[in-house]
Amino acid sequence: MNIKNISVIGLGTLGTQIAVQAACYGCNVRGYDQDPEIFLKKVEELKFLMLAMGKDPTVPKEDWGKAAATVKLTKDLAEALADADLVIEAVPEVLELKRKVFAEMDTLAPKAALLATNSSSIPISRIEDATKRPEKCLNMHFYQPALGFTLCDIMGGTKTSPEVIEGARQWVRSLDLTPLKVKKEILGFCFNSVWRAVKKQVLYMACNGFVDYQDIDRAWRVFTGMPYGPFTMMDMVGLDVVYDIEMSYYNESKDPKDLPPQAFKDMIDRKELGAKTGKGFYTYPNPDWAKPDFLKG
Ligand SMILES: NC(=O)c1ccc[n+]([C@@H]2O[C@H](COP(=O)([O-])OP(=O)(O)OC[C@H]3O[C@@H](n4cnc5c(N)ncnc54)[C@H](O)[C@@H]3O)[C@@H](O)[C@H]2O)c1
Repeated sequence: MNIKNISVIGLGTLGTQIAVQAACYGCNVRGYDQDPEIFLKKVEELKFLMLAMGKDPTVPKEDWGKAAATVKLTKDLAEALADADLVIEAVPEVLELKRKVFAEMDTLAPKAALLATNSSSIPISRIEDATKRPEKCLNMHFYQPALGFTLCDIMGGTKTSPEVIEGARQWVRSLDLTPLKVKKEILGFCFNSVWRAVKKQVLYMACNGFVDYQDIDRAWRVFTGMPYGPFTMMDMVGLDVVYDIEMSYYNESKDPKDLPPQAFKDMIDRKELGAKTGKGFYTYPNPDWAKPDFLKG
């Protein structure tokens, strides 16, 4: 399967990183977002985050910046999709929106193109029937490759062909990322399911006043050797995005235990959305987690 022409629909935090990662590895990338300014803003924001997090992308930072400049931006969705071998949708985590965008992608992209969603929680089986090519639809869930999280969950729906899964797997490997193949549909995919369990528990503990979020981050770093803990990571992801993902799990289960804590919702309502708004659990640009004595407690 020759996957060379990539279209990314939605160029926010993740769409921008997927587009640039693909461009870094020689793909012809076209990008479309309803906000024509967002890609360049995100590229600058990511440069700042790379410095703050001290984690590198898979190529030297200068090459990453140069690759970003090769992404062809267009205000016309049809033009964005015209030559695609693979389309990756990265719009907000709202099922109806994703279904609408998939229907558009299906109409405008070449018949042979694969259609992937970068959703963090919605299985492709909930989206595939918005298209006439369910055998070419799949989940490809990336984890902020520009910030050194070089993984991608891959999962098929009810009709995805094995060749499509294998083609996507090989393509992900060609971008210097590690594919994590899901053998049987599960909410949250492969490692993202594990990360979700961590998020849910730590949000419950900190937002209900049992412990301080900084102590969880300290413990996580000491215990795992990672340079940041779950609350730092949520600040990087965007708390609105985390909230939407948690709501999507709740909408699936309707179990009150899956509802995000009220104190967390209050943060979203106050627009404390993490690094991108200057305040989330930590305050930016000089968050406490980046200070030399943070681990001392
Ligand atoms: N943030 C993360 O760390 C992360 C990680 C993995 C997966 N994801 C998933 O990726 C998807 C996007 O998340 P994000 O963090 O990049 O969100 P984001 O809010 O940063 O970006 C979403 C972008 O989609 C654009 N958009 C909205 N409607 C559109 C439409 N109809 N057509 C084109 N563009 C449209 C918005 O303008 C925005 O720029 C979500 O499904 C999320 O679950 C996010």
